[in-house]
Amino acid sequence: MDTADETLEQGRRPRLMLPGPTEVPAQVLKALSRPTIGHRGGEFRAVYRRVRAALGPLFGTTGEVVILPAAGTGGLEAVVENLFVPGDRVLACVMGVFGERFAEVAHRAGLEVDLLEVPFGRAISPAALSERLARGRYRGVLLTHNETSTGVTMDLEAVAAVLREEGVLVCVDAVSSLGAIPVDMDRLGLDAVVSCSQKALMCPPGLALVALSGRALRVSKLNPRRPLYWDFLQYVRHGEGAGTPYTPAVNLWFALAVALDMIHAEGLERVYLRHRGLGAAFRAGIAELVPHYRLFAVEGPSDTVTAVEVIPPLTPQAVRKRALEDHGLAFAGGQKGLAGKLVRVGHMGYCSFREIELALCALADAAGLDPAGALRAAEEAWEGVMGR
Ligand SMILES: Cc1ncc(COP(=O)(O)O)c(C=O)c1O
Repeated sequence: MDTADETLEQGRRPRLMLPGPTEVPAQVLKALSRPTIGHRGGEFRAVYRRVRAALGPLFGTTGEVVILPAAGTGGLEAVVENLFVPGDRVLACVMGVFGERFAEVAHRAGLEVDLLEVPFGRAISPAALSERLARGRYRGVLLTHNETSTGVTMDLEAVAAVLREEGVLVCVDAVSSLGAIPVDMDRLGLDAVVSCSQKALMCPPGLALVALSGRALRVSKLNPRRPLYWDFLQYVRHGEGAGTPYTPAVNLWFALAVALDMIHAEGLERVYLRHRGLGAAFRAGIAELVPHYRLFAVEGPSDTVTAVEVIPPLTPQAVRKRALEDHGLAFAGGQKGLAGKLVRVGHMGYCSFREIELALCALADAAGLDPAGALRAAEEAWEGVMGR
């Protein structure tokens, strides 16, 4: 066995507690290695229908969902290029690095981008949004449901309620929330919701998923500058025959089909509850690890990723090294201005309370603390959410 294989050997490779990509269950990995099939035959059409049917409830939509061979950013770009034309004015709501990314995508596409920013660690407030909308006319609003760089989830329901009367196109980055935190697209009146395979959906990277309202599709149709490869209308048209306009990432579709079966077998409501439990348990544990760690989120702490502030002299680099080398856990660091300040721990998708315990032990160990108090607090919080 060569070194590359050895690192892949179960048990020797690190467990991914990154905010993405996340752990991929063995049965999903196995599906990837099924022999590739042609995408214009009945066998692929059956996979298409299975995936399509399973995705609607995750988005909370009975409308269209297109699946693109792309990372999440490709999905964001596709939304911007189908729904808008250069010169359109949009309001980008920024609460972290990924909100900045969405704004940048719009900026590069030639849109006029105004920013509504909050300090990192905080969530967009419906009141601030309402006040901003009263001062300017926008064709669209760009939102990040769960800001992975800061571990903050916005109150999508309250924000959507503000937007409902405005007639703006509501575009949501749900990359690190879909399949873990309810999105409820149709009920909230969202127009475009983007996610991807490598987060709560427990798949390898490579598929972007974009759910679209009827209004989003009507607007796309009128867009004279629609892109070719990302043309939503082509995806929808081919989708009517359970196919895709261009060669799909067939094996990733196999994987996604299995992962979605797992989610539905557990039950969507139960999956959401488990994520609430994981988030609450991890945060309760962190609260016991003072003064070395502190929760970075000031409001709306996320149930899929926790940003943990590491208090000097302890450093995120040292914590991540200890977690990886002594505990076999891969944590992420902070991004951009938050580098050197945060450790980010993903607890979404294929994740159980056991991983929360392991992560708390690793953090305690790196700080030279006994983990017992943190583990007790985590268990209590977990049981508080899940029931005994
Ligand atoms: C909220 C959010 N948006 C967008 C992205 C970008 O996704 P990708 O790296 O798949 O392009 C990420 C990735 O972590 C994310 O967490």
